[in-house]
Amino acid sequence: MADNTTTTTSLSHSNKLQGKVAIITGGASGIGEATARLFANHGARAVVIADVQDQKGQKLAETIGAHRCIYLHCDVTDEDQVKSMVESTVQIYGQLDIMFSNAGIISSSDQVILDLDFPQFDRLFAINVRGMAACVKHAARVMVERRVRGSIVCTASVAASKGTKKLVDYTMSKHAVLGLVRAASQQLGEYGIRVNSVSPYAVGTPMMCKSLGKEPEEVEEAFGVMNPLKGIVLKVDHVADAVLFLASDDSAFVSGHDLVVDGGFMNH
Ligand SMILES: NC(=O)c1ccc[n+]([C@@H]2O[C@H](COP(=O)([O-])OP(=O)(O)OC[C@H]3O[C@@H](n4cnc5c(N)ncnc54)[C@H](O)[C@@H]3O)[C@@H](O)[C@H]2O)c1
Repeated sequence: MADNTTTTTSLSHSNKLQGKVAIITGGASGIGEATARLFANHGARAVVIADVQDQKGQKLAETIGAHRCIYLHCDVTDEDQVKSMVESTVQIYGQLDIMFSNAGIISSSDQVILDLDFPQFDRLFAINVRGMAACVKHAARVMVERRVRGSIVCTASVAASKGTKKLVDYTMSKHAVLGLVRAASQQLGEYGIRVNSVSPYAVGTPMMCKSLGKEPEEVEEAFGVMNPLKGIVLKVDHVADAVLFLASDDSAFVSGHDLVVDGGFMNH
């Protein structure tokens, strides 16, 4: 009896996205990559990895399996590329249920307000804010057209709700993501479309490692000491689990919400 219960539970738990079609921008690496694998493991009919790292993205799609995952080149700063990537997804798979708008970069220098470099600021905003909005716009348009009660999840950050000693452009861009999520959730609710964000604490992804010149374990160590939650290290899989919750029907009445994955950091 106990065995049967366990089997039933684990089966239902592994199919949270049964039959769903999902796009993941920035899906070739880090948080996006972990989420692509998790979505596929949860029964997604198709996972579309949209990124600018073609080799990495293609390899990941092959690993996940050509029957349920493809890679499409898409630079989110170019609205035409976003539109055509979303339309190709619908052409190939017939619909779009989930958009995980996750592509983002971190400031390429300290970017303190006294020395703010605007060309760098513009480049970062083109990806983190404009690109994010383009993905929400075009995903929502096809969901509305096809009457799909879809789920849109954007990647913000703990820097979306807190000031930082440097990276003013990054911090501003992530605050803007919360504005996008809050406004879009109000405007898309009448179509049954939910819009939420996930806000990770520091994770040792290629973005963070490159920016800090550290190995993943060094990033984990450096940020672990500042986090109130001990005995656990934040990994991309923890963030992917939160994205899965927001993407799936487990969060059917959750919209306009920012889900922080921060070990309690924001409260301390
Ligand atoms: N790693 C962290 O500590 C952390 C914390 C909070 C928020 N985030 C956010 O998580 C998201 C994912 O970052 P990550 O840490 O996994 O880094 P990552 O560098 O591993 O992944 C980011 C992906 O985005 C892609 N990308 C960059 N510019 C793009 C563009 N113009 N068009 C399409 N794709 C593009 C990159 O090629 C890369 O594959 C970002 O939005 C980042 O701001 C990360």
